[in-house]
Amino acid sequence: MAADLRVSFAGIELKNPVIAASGTFGYGLEFEDVVHLDRLGGFVVKGLSREPIIGNPPPRLYETAAGMLNSIGLQNVGARAFVDEKLPKLREMRNIVVIANVFGYTREDYEHTIQILNEGEGIAAYELNVSCPNTQHGGIQFGSDPRTLDEVVTTARRFSQRPLIVKLSPNVTSIGQMAHVAQESGADAISLVNTFVAMSIDVETRRPRIANVTAGLSGPAIKPIAVRMVYEASKSVQIPVIGLGGISTAADVIEFMLAGASAVQVGTSSFWDPRATEKIVRELERWCAAHEIGRIAELTGAMQA
Ligand SMILES: Cc1cc2nc3c(=O)[nH]c(=O)nc-3n(C[C@H](O)[C@H](O)[C@H](O)COP(=O)(O)O)c2cc1C
Repeated sequence: MAADLRVSFAGIELKNPVIAASGTFGYGLEFEDVVHLDRLGGFVVKGLSREPIIGNPPPRLYETAAGMLNSIGLQNVGARAFVDEKLPKLREMRNIVVIANVFGYTREDYEHTIQILNEGEGIAAYELNVSCPNTQHGGIQFGSDPRTLDEVVTTARRFSQRPLIVKLSPNVTSIGQMAHVAQESGADAISLVNTFVAMSIDVETRRPRIANVTAGLSGPAIKPIAVRMVYEASKSVQIPVIGLGGISTAADVIEFMLAGASAVQVGTSSFWDPRATEKIVRELERWCAAHEIGRIAELTGAMQA
């Protein structure tokens, strides 16, 4: 018998736990011809801001051992264009779950972006990217300081008319503490991890491989650290945890669920294979059948100590 792959978090029911991660799946529309979007648990669109952003100069991507460096600079069309131009097309598709990723450089940016997005129909939840420099507090990431994290999540909670997922930065000393702050400030769920701050230098030219010098590391190289962080975060909160970081197989999905994740996201794998998300769903169906799993949701936090 086919396994029941349904999972739920923050009042949202998904047909399976596989969600495409923000920044690696465009606005979903770009993947329409290669992935059956209705086969996925859902997808998170590119990070959206109050105004459109052009992004950083090239080179912005560099492949590393089992991973990838990126410094795209949060390029996006802006929340207004998303609501007016992208969302109507997404609304024509049936049986899909769209999550809007939101970021800003000030607390007011988050507030205004959410207010614009509240006007759009067909968004299941907001995912707050707090791995952005806070321009009012010396450029440190919102998500790397408990006080600024509290401020931005409290603001988002006040203005959001939808479930709120807070996407945590892994560039912190205690992920458990930050997970707890997000919960206490009003998050309905947390997702982790975002990318790790990293860099690479071309020794021949002595130049940084990425124009911005530092960049975010993603892909299989970060997976064991991400699994550990999901495990620690899930022990610190009662709200659901969405796990990501280097997932490329069904076994990776199961591993994150055993560590405490209710659902997962797949990012960099879509760069190596645009069909990766849908393939992982198919593989997950086979894995659960072969392992006689009745309900996949029962695997959340089921690691044997
Ligand atoms: C090119 C690129 C762009 C990204 N853009 C965003 C973004 O706009 N917002 C966000 O929250 N995360 C963004 N991320 C982070 C991913 O969503 C994800 O958290 C991270 O890459 C780890 O997962 P992975 O190893 O499966 O890629 C981006 C990642 C990559 C590789």
